[in-house]
Amino acid sequence: MNRVELAELAEAVTAQQQSCRMRLLVCCGTPCVAAGSQAVVAALRERLAALGHPADLELVGTGCQGPCSRGPLLTVLRPGQPEQVWQKCTPELAVSILEAELQQSAFPDTNLLPADWPFFRCQTRLVLANSGRIDPENLEQYIARGGYDGLAQVLHEMIPDQVCDSVVQSGLRGRGGGGYPTGLKWQLVRKSSGSRKFIVANGDEGDPGAYMDRSLMESDPHRILEGMAIAGYAIGAEQGYIYVRGEYPVAAQRLRKAIRDAERAGLLGSRVLDSSFSFRIDIRIGAGAFVCGEETALLASIMGRRGQPRIRPPYPAEAGLWGCPTLINNVETFGNIPAIFSIGPQAFNAIGNGKSRGTKVFALCGEVVNNGLIEVPMGIPLREIVFEIGGGLANGAAFKAAQTGGPSGGCIPAEKLDTPVDYENLQALGSIMGSGGLIVMGEQSCMVDVARFFMEFCLDESCGKCVPCRTGTVEIYRLLSRICNGSASQRDLQTLEQLCQMVKDTSLCGLGAAAPNPVLSTLRWFRAEYETHVNERRCPAGVCSMDELPLHLLGEQLLQRIAALRCDGEGY
Ligand SMILES: Cc1cc2nc3c(=O)[nH]c(=O)nc-3n(C[C@H](O)[C@H](O)[C@H](O)COP(=O)(O)O)c2cc1C
Ligand code: SF4
Ligand code: SF4
Ligand code: FES
Repeated sequence: MNRVELAELAEAVTAQQQSCRMRLLVCCGTPCVAAGSQAVVAALRERLAALGHPADLELVGTGCQGPCSRGPLLTVLRPGQPEQVWQKCTPELAVSILEAELQQSAFPDTNLLPADWPFFRCQTRLVLANSGRIDPENLEQYIARGGYDGLAQVLHEMIPDQVCDSVVQSGLRGRGGGGYPTGLKWQLVRKSSGSRKFIVANGDEGDPGAYMDRSLMESDPHRILEGMAIAGYAIGAEQGYIYVRGEYPVAAQRLRKAIRDAERAGLLGSRVLDSSFSFRIDIRIGAGAFVCGEETALLASIMGRRGQPRIRPPYPAEAGLWGCPTLINNVETFGNIPAIFSIGPQAFNAIGNGKSRGTKVFALCGEVVNNGLIEVPMGIPLREIVFEIGGGLANGAAFKAAQTGGPSGGCIPAEKLDTPVDYENLQALGSIMGSGGLIVMGEQSCMVDVARFFMEFCLDESCGKCVPCRTGTVEIYRLLSRICNGSASQRDLQTLEQLCQMVKDTSLCGLGAAAPNPVLSTLRWFRAEYETHVNERRCPAGVCSMDELPLHLLGEQLLQRIAALRCDGEGY
């Protein structure tokens, strides 16, 4: 396919879609499938078959549409009409909507979401622009939404340095957690000397509760491939790898199909889009270790070695896969690239706050009413995410904290709800943006218990290469357990703080260096809760067992028991 053919195909598919009197988009993202969306698809398919498959009625199984806790979702698009979305859609409801269209009668309003629902209204969807809109396994539908146009643009209109400069201008920063400026990284790899260079997309996503990257890979795989191909052209690489977490078989299968389809269409492989640029992508499956998301461990794993981090420098930009310069970015970072070239770097840069430009995808979960996948402009107040998009806390519970950044992040208390959500502001609060997990907690959550949960995760996932992390996480976990079971003393609290600082300062990689963050941030904002556990042997949230005694009380109790047993000389 060449550039002209790409444009013609986009036009033809768009025209066909616009000629439909009704397009029924059923969400087939994993949470909606679990809620029964396959039955909705089957019922609609059966009815359409009975009607003889009318060309002007189209059924599309899409990726995640967003409000996952309300699935199965059905979105109806009709020319000249506002779009309508039904939640908790049953097969019967879906068929009755189709029948209403056929009979030109009013649509049922059961489970119909309000037209102006804040969950959708408050979002800005760039990376998720196609998620929930297209069949992820259909290349033509991606192309109809401007897919591969950015790649065509850079290959035919720009030299590689200009591509890197555009990414710098956009202000995009890495979405994998660290927030390193993406354009700068691309320039570094471009300038690194080496006859072979590689692109790696990090789709390991090990944070508990996070599923942004899985959803993106499952819902819009071509977007990631396009972003990687643009990066390949920009830095001078001909080979890319996508490292997919082993627990994500659907994502791997969709990416594989997308690669095959793109190669057949001449959008990947030799002489991409009739240019002199060639680029291939292969998939590598991880084995489910959180540490393999760390870039040097990930590269070792791709090369077939044990997935353990190594000291940097050298950074992957100088010496990555097989010693060659390697660009490693998160899959969401690559997902931003086609958006930058479709709206332009300046328009992209116009969205956001301070040094955080563009949007961020979050997996919004916890006690919030609307659990799901959201994309918001950087700088949006946390309050808007929790109370507008999230709909507040279930059963009117009071907000206590929001946890961002998973095991490397921290908790933001209620008094900071108006904080703009961006890299700098979250860091100033002792948390991090992280890759996008956002857990909302109410008064029923114990902050010490939350810190202990994340520490248990870190000690399980520590690769054991360096002492501070290997033994430090275990000791921190023991101290937290003592606080939770009521056997801790004030001295333990001091030791906890000192140990956290030591593990933070001396660990070899980010896993250990960030593991104390949930403890330090809860100590910072919820110290009174720790003190109550230690001084009053009471868990204010009523979560912790508090069923053991501190040493001094244990000693006192023992003495009392011995005194009670002492012989008083009168015998029995
Ligand atoms: C323990 C650990 C786990 C990580 N896991 C991931 C991950 O799952 N996905 C990811 O993109 N980055 C992860 N990172 C960050 C990567 O090392 C790397 O910085 C990132 O992939 C670079 O991409 P970006 O610049 O686009 O953010 C992890 C880092 C650490 C220390
Ligand atoms: S420190 Fe222990 S685990 Fe590490 S190499 Fe020596 S014996 Fe083995
Ligand atoms: S900090 Fe932890 S995960 Fe990282 S190298 Fe050391 S032991 Fe391994
Ligand atoms: S999976 Fe259907 S809305 Fe997320």
